[in-house]
Amino acid sequence: MTAAALSAYSLRRRLLAWLLVSTAAIGAIAMIDTWDEAIDTANEVSDRVLAGSALAIAERVIVSEDGSLEVDIPYVALEMLTSAAQDRVFYRVDGPPGTFVTGYQNLPSIQRREGQAAAFGDAVFRGEPIRVAALARSASTGINSVPFTVTVAETTIARQQLTHAILLRSALRILFMILGAAAIVWVAVTLSLRPLYRFSEALSERSPDDLHPITERVPNEVQGLVDTVNSFMVRLEGALDALRHFTGNAGHQLRTPLAIVRTQLTLARRSGNLGEVQQAAEKADEAVGDAERILAQLLLMARIDAASRSTAMRQLDLVDLTRTVTAEHVPRAAEAGIDLGFEGEGEVMAVVEPILIGELVKNLVSNALLYAGAGAEVTVRVGTQQGATFVEVEDNGPGIPPERRETVLRRFERGDTSGQGRPGTGLGLPIVDEIARLHGASLGLEDGSEGRGLKVRVTFLMI
Ligand SMILES: Nc1ncnc2c1ncn2[C@@H]1O[C@H](COP(=O)(O)OP(=O)(O)OP(=O)(O)O)[C@@H](O)[C@H]1O
Ligand SMILES: [Mg+2]
Repeated sequence: MTAAALSAYSLRRRLLAWLLVSTAAIGAIAMIDTWDEAIDTANEVSDRVLAGSALAIAERVIVSEDGSLEVDIPYVALEMLTSAAQDRVFYRVDGPPGTFVTGYQNLPSIQRREGQAAAFGDAVFRGEPIRVAALARSASTGINSVPFTVTVAETTIARQQLTHAILLRSALRILFMILGAAAIVWVAVTLSLRPLYRFSEALSERSPDDLHPITERVPNEVQGLVDTVNSFMVRLEGALDALRHFTGNAGHQLRTPLAIVRTQLTLARRSGNLGEVQQAAEKADEAVGDAERILAQLLLMARIDAASRSTAMRQLDLVDLTRTVTAEHVPRAAEAGIDLGFEGEGEVMAVVEPILIGELVKNLVSNALLYAGAGAEVTVRVGTQQGATFVEVEDNGPGIPPERRETVLRRFERGDTSGQGRPGTGLGLPIVDEIARLHGASLGLEDGSEGRGLKVRVTFLMI
């Protein structure tokens, strides 16, 4: 048995508890009902015998010559009643009101209702509970008739025994039924859970990278769970694929500059010429620079992932932030023969992660400086349009043709302008895209305002 099965929360135990509690309650009600009925049944049976013997006695009542009543108690009348050995039988015969004929004078009789010939009831005689039957008749002399009452009583030992026997039987029956139901539940739960055990076995036997959907047959009730697990696995597979793809590409991207460094080092070692050694060192240095940049981009990607789970967002002035980043690029712009400008006034507040927004602007400005070409103009702009805050970088270089604008947003995709040996990984725009998305902002690539060049705009949604 697994740890889960031993834990406090057991489906089987819960079901059993529910079953036992409910059947015990139903059983108790059934027992009360049976008790009632058993008493009724026992009374009915012995009342009939009591009535029979009262009748037998009544038939022997005659009117004597002097007008009084006489009875010759027939032996069989009482014999009928003494079938239960422990029970004792009593009787009395009364004549017209106030006259006692024979029997136990202290024996309580019972009131008959008007017009009723026989009546039955419970009473106590000599400290013992008794069942009493009273029968009214009249004896005829031929001229007139004399009314009389025969009362027969019996102690209740036999009928109590009968009641108990009936009750015991029915209690045993109910107990047997409860035990049977419990056994059925136990077996049914075990059988019903079997597909779940198979499901969990199928999962635990899998190798960690086997993420194909589980096809074990399970009951309808758990199909939802299995579907959820399956769809989770499909998503996990997708995420793992993306990760594998990414790490593969990243590894490849890093391997290239490292291979260059190694080649240049080998060249330098073999060469006796100082000029050649210096040239090799320069190339190796460039390659190390490349590797450094690639690593920085990769680390930035990881950082975006982490930022999406943390809350380093705060409210700040985008004009100030963007102006600072732009200013940092002025020397590089001058070097590339590009006129780098900034437009933005006052304060434009937004809730952002400052380092990531800095990186976003850095990537866009670097691209413009790298691809717009000497003599171009690059403008970084911050403002609001129709109530929405935006940051954009515009240049009047060659731009990206509209049909390529979607492709360059994919990781490791580089454009035509990246030719002529310009260093790069193809991660810049994807990073911009992800940072924008993290801020709930939208990214748009358009033509520059003079119909040439590229304008990349990040629009922050209104808060
Ligand atoms: N302002 C621009 N003008 C013309 N082409 C551009 C511009 N910005 C980007 N591109 C094109 O889009 C491609 C993708 O850009 P991205 O920034 O994603 O990668 P990269 O610059 O090649 O490499 P990385 O930024 O990772 O070093 C570039 O290779 C380039 O061809
Ligand atoms: Mg770039």
